[in-house]
Amino acid sequence: MKKFYITTAIYYVNDNPHIGSISEAISADVIARYKRLQNFDVFFSTGTDEHSQKIENRASNEGINPKVFVDRESLKWRKIFDKFHITYDRFIRTSDNDHTEVVRDFFSKMYEKGDIYLGKYEGWYCVRDETFLKDSDLVNGKCPYCGGDVQRISEDNYFFRLSKYEEPLLRYYEEHRDFLRPESRYNEVINVIKSGLQDISVSRKSFKFGINVPLDEEHVVYVWFDALLNYITSIGFLRDKEKFGHYWPADLHVIGKDITRFHGIIWPAMLMSYGLLLPIEIFAHGFWNLEGARMSKSTGNVVNPEDFVSRFSEISSIDYDVSIDVLRYYLSREINFGFDGDFKIETFFGRYNSDLANDFGNLINRTISMLHKYRGGIVPETLGKDEEVVDFVESKKNSYFVQMDEYNLSGGLDCAWDIVHYFNNYIQVKEPWKLGENKEKLDEVLYNLIEGIRILALMMNPFMPTTTRRVLEYLHCESSTFDGLKWGVIKSGIGIEKFSPIFPRLDKDKVEGRNLAGLKNGAEQEGQLKAKITYEDFDKIDLRVAKVVKAEKIDQSDKLIKLTLSLEGEERVIIAGIGKQYSPEALIGKKIIIIANLEPRKLMGVESNGMLLAASNEQELSVLTVDKDIQEGSSIH
Ligand code: MSP
Repeated sequence: MKKFYITTAIYYVNDNPHIGSISEAISADVIARYKRLQNFDVFFSTGTDEHSQKIENRASNEGINPKVFVDRESLKWRKIFDKFHITYDRFIRTSDNDHTEVVRDFFSKMYEKGDIYLGKYEGWYCVRDETFLKDSDLVNGKCPYCGGDVQRISEDNYFFRLSKYEEPLLRYYEEHRDFLRPESRYNEVINVIKSGLQDISVSRKSFKFGINVPLDEEHVVYVWFDALLNYITSIGFLRDKEKFGHYWPADLHVIGKDITRFHGIIWPAMLMSYGLLLPIEIFAHGFWNLEGARMSKSTGNVVNPEDFVSRFSEISSIDYDVSIDVLRYYLSREINFGFDGDFKIETFFGRYNSDLANDFGNLINRTISMLHKYRGGIVPETLGKDEEVVDFVESKKNSYFVQMDEYNLSGGLDCAWDIVHYFNNYIQVKEPWKLGENKEKLDEVLYNLIEGIRILALMMNPFMPTTTRRVLEYLHCESSTFDGLKWGVIKSGIGIEKFSPIFPRLDKDKVEGRNLAGLKNGAEQEGQLKAKITYEDFDKIDLRVAKVVKAEKIDQSDKLIKLTLSLEGEERVIIAGIGKQYSPEALIGKKIIIIANLEPRKLMGVESNGMLLAASNEQELSVLTVDKDIQEGSSIH
């Protein structure tokens, strides 16, 4: 059986999944499912990228161990991938033990070979993108990729002799025109290589949460060097030679355009240095924007896919798993793989109503209701094949394979939709309702329609797995292989039950008036109001005025302050994460507001008995105090 190894990029564990990140996983999942239906032995790998300075910072801000932090955050990704029916074979985490072994082995071998050496790095670093930058890279003093702040660093680093691979890389690119697609990305990378490659830092010294450099444990391996190796760990490099030998090289790395250079230059050079084969192909897809603007957490311009689907399901009364399929469909159809796309609520509803409700949904509804009206729900016998119908379906099926093999997913769906339109038109032309007298003709038309729907459901299965599986189950047909894509598989004589419309048409005015805006707001908007709670819920919170009598920094944390408070004759300790904005001295004597009945919680080993209230946004934090000198212990209503 032919193998197919496909990967996504691994996601920064602390980020929240958004439409862009989930769309990459969906595209890879569609391809993995497509290949499985073609009977390939598929291995699909995805996961989380967990080592970095920013993770260490975030965990310290929360006062927890970085490993505890990444365990929690990684689970969040895994859960959302499960919800979206992403059929990964391994969910790799860079904190996995086998990965640590791989990274250390790789580093050592490259060092022994003379491809890694100790040097000094002087320059800029973007923590958000984990990227080393030169003066000339900066745009207005900011990171050219994310627009965020950069840090000046000067530290001893290990360097990878990337410059040595300039010629071999160029040669490889010239001999493998399809190594990196689309062509625009191929050209971009070729130009970068031609302009000259410099050696790059592959270790950091100023933080701890990462994989230690073998032989020099003061350093941790640079996060990109570490992360890229996930692709070989996932299939058993070092631990399972047979499995690795079977699946490597990867057939397809699906990545976003922003990380093309890491995958198109550093990764192949690392593999060349170690002596492993290069992946067959890297596909760099475009970016999703949101309503015309760049998705950005800092401006709140992001959509949380889970919230979006829940909200859509709620307002449309379509069940959750089918709603997931609707989003999977939209994300696959609306963007040309390789180009940017714009996520718009309008076009989402437009596509739902026109493609799913009117075209595909209606074809199914009309066919099933005619089958019941004229043949009691029993699939009729046909005497012969209608060559015209069969030829049309056959030719579109072939184009579908061509498009899908090129990873042009929207192109694949276009071919399926040509068949949908063909059969909707077929109903108009054949007018089954006028064929009452002509039994054979009516049988043939009904058979062709049912068979057409079956083939369509199979073709769309990688995109909308839940919905199409349900349709195929109604038709008592197989959904696990494309062997059934030939014409004439459905059995005459079987009974097909009536089922309610899978994609009911949504009244746009009703939805728009009440809920359309809410759909976007229901999506993740940072700083957005939370759902309403009852008076009883609010009444459970015991808010009190408390006076700060003592304040001290907690060792090893630049954020946490231990506050000793007086509260109606009682003394209590709380820990507050305000050390970056307040010095301990500035807090002494303040009358602050605390939640007094919160369960105790340990932060950096110290028990906190309550929580202080503070207002914050991205830039500032301000502790809430009282307007008059009111007695401590007073309650707040
Ligand atoms: N951790 C690195 C990848 C290491 S792979 C060895 C990383 N992580 S990421 O979380 O920032 O991005 C993960 C993937 O999501 C990338 O391929 C990235 O291009 C993709 N996307 C992030 N935002 C996106 C959009 N707005 N639209 C489409 N894909 C997007 O980079």
